[in-house]
Amino acid sequence: MNELVLTLPDDWHVHLRDAALLHETVAATARSFGRAIVMPNLVPPVREAADAQAYRQRILAAVPKGSGFTPLMTLYLTDQTTPQTIRDAHAAGVTAVKLYPAGATTHSDLAVTRIEHLWPVCEMLAELGMPLLVHGEVTDGDIDIFDREAVFIERHLQPLVARFPTLKLVLEHITTAQAVAFVTASGPNVAATLTPQHLLMNRNDMLVGGIRPHNYCLPVLKRRTHQLALQQAAISGNPKFFLGTDSAPHLQERKESACGCAGCYSAPAAIELYAQIFDELGALDKLEGFASHFGADFYGLPRNQARIRLCRETWQLPEKLALLGGRTLIPFWAGQPLHWRLAGILP
Ligand code: NCD
Ligand code: ZN
Repeated sequence: MNELVLTLPDDWHVHLRDAALLHETVAATARSFGRAIVMPNLVPPVREAADAQAYRQRILAAVPKGSGFTPLMTLYLTDQTTPQTIRDAHAAGVTAVKLYPAGATTHSDLAVTRIEHLWPVCEMLAELGMPLLVHGEVTDGDIDIFDREAVFIERHLQPLVARFPTLKLVLEHITTAQAVAFVTASGPNVAATLTPQHLLMNRNDMLVGGIRPHNYCLPVLKRRTHQLALQQAAISGNPKFFLGTDSAPHLQERKESACGCAGCYSAPAAIELYAQIFDELGALDKLEGFASHFGADFYGLPRNQARIRLCRETWQLPEKLALLGGRTLIPFWAGQPLHWRLAGILP
């Protein structure tokens, strides 16, 4: 098979950032996705309906001409978020809300300090059928970073799902066999997103032969046995597992630093990266469900009408992307071969 035609995919977890970066990130995401769930971890975060509406307008202003790309907005939960905040956001067209445990990742210091603070908010979400998107890691200093997702599931997620059995919940960017097992065993209201980096790599790819800061993201890459479990979930055809890149750009100097930022900027070749791993696993026939159907179905949105065409072709991303002001981004997978290439969007 040298050509693939798929329903236009969506990205169910992306960081577009703000201001000058939007020109880069929105174009890169609109290149191969019809819609994207836009993460709210700006500085300051997107906490209210009005913030989300203003951010949405800034994103729309950066959508390339001729593209039908639609951003789907989210709110950042804090200890101060009330059920009324949720009701207002829902009425204003906000799609979902994001739970970051405070301190878990980039720009999460204003986030939720105790999940129990969120019970009234969760009740409202369940009532409205609005999804709760979860960064599933504990932040306790005594829990090893490689164990933080598994411990979060045991300590916080299982009780949360038991308490709110109808709440729509997406465990974002899963990285462990425990997360695959948890999502598989839960009801149809619990799903997960999978990133290209966690499918293509394991922690050796970050640490063997030198520290590779462009492969560092959170939750951190785990050992190979976990990578294999994620790959099997992705190609299983189980609609609970769908595409969410977690594309998260940081300037080159912020990544290549004594204290480098977490996040892989995968948007420039996102769909190709997924095609590559599905191809390697002999499962190209499972790509369309994962990339283009299951996420929309879970969110209760129509599947896209347009299609994309991918061709088998070996190519590479540029080593660096130049931004205004002489700043640079290093795209994820720069300098490594890609074996599929987007040929275009078909109406
Ligand atoms: C994300 C970011 O930079 O905003 N970083 C990351 O490593 N994934 C935050 C997040 O999704 O955890
Ligand atoms: Zn993210």
